[in-house]
Amino acid sequence: MNSTILVTGGSGFIGSHTTVALQQAGYRVLILDNLCNSRLEVLSRIKKITGTEPGFVKADIRDSKALAAVFQSNRIAAVMHFAGLKAVGESNQQPLQYYDNNVNGSVQLLTVMKQAGVKVFVFSSSATVYGDPQRLPLTEDHPRSATNPYGHTKLVVEDILESLYKAEGDWRIARLRYFNPVGAHPSGLIGEAPQGTPNNLMPYVAQVAVGARPRLQIFGGDYNTADGTGVRDYIHVTDLAQGHVAALRYCEQMQDELLTVNLGTGKGYSVLEMVHAFEQASSKPIAYDIVGRRAGDIAACWADTTQAERKLGWRASKSIKEMCDDAWRWQVAPGSWA
Ligand SMILES: NC(=O)c1ccc[n+]([C@@H]2O[C@H](COP(=O)([O-])OP(=O)(O)OC[C@H]3O[C@@H](n4cnc5c(N)ncnc54)[C@H](O)[C@@H]3O)[C@@H](O)[C@H]2O)c1
Repeated sequence: MNSTILVTGGSGFIGSHTTVALQQAGYRVLILDNLCNSRLEVLSRIKKITGTEPGFVKADIRDSKALAAVFQSNRIAAVMHFAGLKAVGESNQQPLQYYDNNVNGSVQLLTVMKQAGVKVFVFSSSATVYGDPQRLPLTEDHPRSATNPYGHTKLVVEDILESLYKAEGDWRIARLRYFNPVGAHPSGLIGEAPQGTPNNLMPYVAQVAVGARPRLQIFGGDYNTADGTGVRDYIHVTDLAQGHVAALRYCEQMQDELLTVNLGTGKGYSVLEMVHAFEQASSKPIAYDIVGRRAGDIAACWADTTQAERKLGWRASKSIKEMCDDAWRWQVAPGSWA
């Protein structure tokens, strides 16, 4: 196979695990990343896992000239687009930065792709586009609504992709709606790198377990769920990475379709269930307080995975125990930047 998959944001959390999965599936990968939320060291870690260091270009997706040069000097067959900003709270404080990075950046990238005649595109969307669920499990035809600027950027890019596909039916586009990616590569060599206070539960819990933070605050103990805490569909990042390989293969062959699929496990776990699973994995007690609900949080959310199974022939296989074991291994690994 001599054509290359361009992976924007490929040195980040999900992009790096997907690069590993792509290389192991026989693809050549070129990462494009501005390193605003990742490290160059990821490249040598990927090489340790797969035996091959992916290509790398340090560039911003909003820099059309740099993008055009990449397409001119490489035979790019498809683009997987992970690059973007992802912190919900920050998006409320800095909406322009989020629209510029996530929406304008995607438009720049698609424009350069069109000029280069590369029309296979896999997009990192999010279950956040479903807003507050009207019914569970969430099917892909559930109405969409955004409750914050970050979610709105995902919704807008989904719409841009739909318009583009309607205008030019030769695009092969996958819109992948991730649920809650957690865990790390089982080697302990790559994983999540939260900067500042983690926004997500698992890295926060891991930092409490390792002693870097004193206690976990659980937002809301009075939701209409089995134990009163919020329920989410956690998916191991390596399962998610395999879902991308399956989506790419599907895109390579699909006809007359704009693919939209959920990537989740189809199972919900509460915050307390997750905390107890992490206590088992780490053999450390997790001190926590249950405090008031956080504005914008929903009670429960999990995926209907029928489409992913039927169309992609893919389903997540890793358990909550494996998610916690691998996150903990990464947390305490020498040389980890967790
Ligand atoms: N992690 C999650 O919980 C989650 C859930 C749903 C969707 N997503 C989406 O998946 C994608 C990847 O998420 P992640 O968790 O790996 O995040 P991440 O921050 O670890 O990775 C994103 C990467 O993109 C790079 N980047 C950001 N802006 C860029 C720009 N303008 N030009 C070039 N590179 C840029 C960053 O340096 C980073 O390496 C994002 O689009 C995110 O919104 C993530």
